[in-house]
Amino acid sequence: MDRATRLKIAVQKTGRLTDNSLDLLQRCGLKYSRGKDQLMLFGENMPLDVLLVRDDDIPDLVQQDVCDLGIVGRNVIEEALLGLKARGVTPLFEQLQLLDFGRCRLALAVPETASYPGPEGLRGKRIATTYPNILANYLARRAIGAEIVTLSGAVEIAPRLGRADLICDLVSSGSTLVANHLREVETILESQAAIIRTPVPLAQEKLEWLRRLLMRIDGVQQVKESKYIMLHAPRSALPEIARLLPGSEFPTIIPLEGTTDKVAVHAVCRENVFWETLESLKAAGASAILVLPVEKMLA
Ligand code: PRP
Ligand code: ZN
Repeated sequence: MDRATRLKIAVQKTGRLTDNSLDLLQRCGLKYSRGKDQLMLFGENMPLDVLLVRDDDIPDLVQQDVCDLGIVGRNVIEEALLGLKARGVTPLFEQLQLLDFGRCRLALAVPETASYPGPEGLRGKRIATTYPNILANYLARRAIGAEIVTLSGAVEIAPRLGRADLICDLVSSGSTLVANHLREVETILESQAAIIRTPVPLAQEKLEWLRRLLMRIDGVQQVKESKYIMLHAPRSALPEIARLLPGSEFPTIIPLEGTTDKVAVHAVCRENVFWETLESLKAAGASAILVLPVEKMLA
């Protein structure tokens, strides 16, 4: 693999971001074959290879220029940034774009039966977490002295084992908390996936592919909710119909053969189109309404 011309992107090997990350790259046109060791995916039609790793390792891999790019949660990025700063290392990797998946939050949770009077109640408590830097930062900004119990996993069982009074962990569906009789009381950080890049300048060819990749990601994210609407409408109803079309900019108006008072309206709607909208369009005089999915978009 030629390091000078091929981009290398780090992606979580197994976990909440894996499927969405690979799906995004595929939607951007990437076709890949799997390496023997299952750690690399080699791009067949783009100079882009995927390295599958633990998500917590991604910021370091990008910071150290082992990979040019990485897809990772804001929670991991933030933890790494604070960790580097604490070690006196200037964080150099750069966040390029937020991605439309991996939404979750880093939250404080107490045992179901415990009371929680607010952040002040954290004083002197033991809090178990795998995010010691973010938690320390949160406590320091509020001048709250608490003991951070840093664990490498299974944080949710720490209170039951008597190792902590409460926990600070990622919550997505909330089912882990429920299963462990814990109650969410405070959000520390809202998170979603993001793409990060190496601080090292990229060769021209790689830079060009990065630009194309980011543009395609933009396109993929835009079409997710987008719909193409076609309908017939009386000319007199056009202002009302334009108002009803969600998130559309300039509808195309096309004359219809054999009539002067009716036209065809075509529009890209950048928001989901619900049945209620169609009913309102019909009430405004529209007929023959079609809603089509948009597959690709390049703004
Ligand atoms: C997080 C967290 C919980 C679980 C919460 O781990 O530690 O175990 O997800 O999700 P839920 O609210 O949907 O039940 P994650 O899968 O991110 O593993 P990792 O921290 O090892 O990457
Ligand atoms: Zn992880």
